[in-house]
Amino acid sequence: MKKTRRFSALVMALVMLFTCAMSFTANAQDTTDVIWNSYYAASTEQIEAAVMLTPGSNESERYVSWYSESATGTVVLLDALGREIDTFEATAKATPQGDYRLGAVISGLKGPGVYAYYCKSGNWQSTTYTFTVDGDTSFTAMYMTDIHVSGDKFEENSIRDTAGKLNNTIEAGLSKALLNGKSVDLILSAGDQASDGLREEYIGVCANEYTKSIPFATVVGNHDRKSVDYRYFTFQPNTADMHLKSYVGTDYWFVKGDVLFFMIDSNNTSMADHRRFVKEAVEANPDVKWRVAVFHHDLYSGRIPSRESENQFLRLMWAPIADEFGFDLCLLGHSHYYTISNVMYNNKTVTATENGGTVTNAEGTIYMVSGSINNPRNSEEVELSENIGHAHLTEDRIYNLIDFSEDSIEIKSYTVESGEEIGSITIEKTTNEGGHTYKTPAKWYYPLIDVISFIAGFINNIGRYYDNTQLGFDIPLFEGIFG
Ligand SMILES: [Fe+2]
Repeated sequence: MKKTRRFSALVMALVMLFTCAMSFTANAQDTTDVIWNSYYAASTEQIEAAVMLTPGSNESERYVSWYSESATGTVVLLDALGREIDTFEATAKATPQGDYRLGAVISGLKGPGVYAYYCKSGNWQSTTYTFTVDGDTSFTAMYMTDIHVSGDKFEENSIRDTAGKLNNTIEAGLSKALLNGKSVDLILSAGDQASDGLREEYIGVCANEYTKSIPFATVVGNHDRKSVDYRYFTFQPNTADMHLKSYVGTDYWFVKGDVLFFMIDSNNTSMADHRRFVKEAVEANPDVKWRVAVFHHDLYSGRIPSRESENQFLRLMWAPIADEFGFDLCLLGHSHYYTISNVMYNNKTVTATENGGTVTNAEGTIYMVSGSINNPRNSEEVELSENIGHAHLTEDRIYNLIDFSEDSIEIKSYTVESGEEIGSITIEKTTNEGGHTYKTPAKWYYPLIDVISFIAGFINNIGRYYDNTQLGFDIPLFEGIFG
């Protein structure tokens, strides 16, 4: 049955505010769970349920993807009054489960404005979803990481419940943004969307209503590589063609406002490939003022001592790229601990940061890590790296609202449970380059890092190929190893 649901961003936000306000008492939480449980059951009963909206190359595009029994499908674009504007044909990726992940690119959007769309494939037609297109350079993104929607053989409803926590976290972020007089225009997720990389988990990841209306940009976490389904689940613009990449995904970029986002697969250690990707993205967008990278692996927090030797290698790999291309901000995950680094250049602190502070024309990069949505670490105190300006240990769920404007990036972090702000920092820039002048001479060992990191990635991919074949997936050898 065709269901049509249209609601403005404001009405949607007010509903979310109401729903979220309910979640602050135990009884209301039960009510919220009942609402979610019945919504989840209804929204996942057909394979076509998993509709997801992803940023396009720029504000004039949106990418839409969904599972389908049919290999053909379309996305129908409507204006704010529900009149059909255009139809976009989908391309199909055949999945290991025997059906398809369809993807269509909506193009020609003009902002500011409200649009709507629905998907059609076979005899199925989706609900109608609204989305907004911004008309200026200011916007707010919600950044989170390590969502870990998880299937658990001992917990029948584990996927539903962990997906519900993601849903509540997004609602809390939307409500907080509304209280701040903003709307959330983009959701960034720094990897480990799922714990075992399973299709059922990704269906849970995008079961909520919000990632159908707000562009949802993810990167590959190490857990997303535990199976093959992330490869089919995602549909992204400007994907990098690399000599070596993960079987499940690769780097991609998009521009929103005055920000160039580098969405990087840091599981792939082939640094020459990443460097070429970043260089090409920068050359394609020379006038975009802010450069923000999102990738999974934490570099500086030092919170997990057993990972320090791995992190030393990761820092040697990533810092030269951030320095050379003047990344203003890197949004990371993996540690499940909230930290904001000092301003880093050449793997050293060049300016200390503090909670609530402002950095103007930073002569380097700030690296931020958020906590996990479904697997927060316990609050055991551990020694912080000297390169961290602010940290917050909590078992609560953390979300971050980032206001991007022409002159500043303002980050504010909150927990779902308390609603309190746990950290903030502002980055200001008065020129296109800020204080980023690449002055690190090429180290003699940089070419060596390219070689070593390629070999390390190659060996790693052989391991993943073996594991995936053990899981029963029939993968061509070359594709399995080189991506
Ligand atoms: Fe994780």
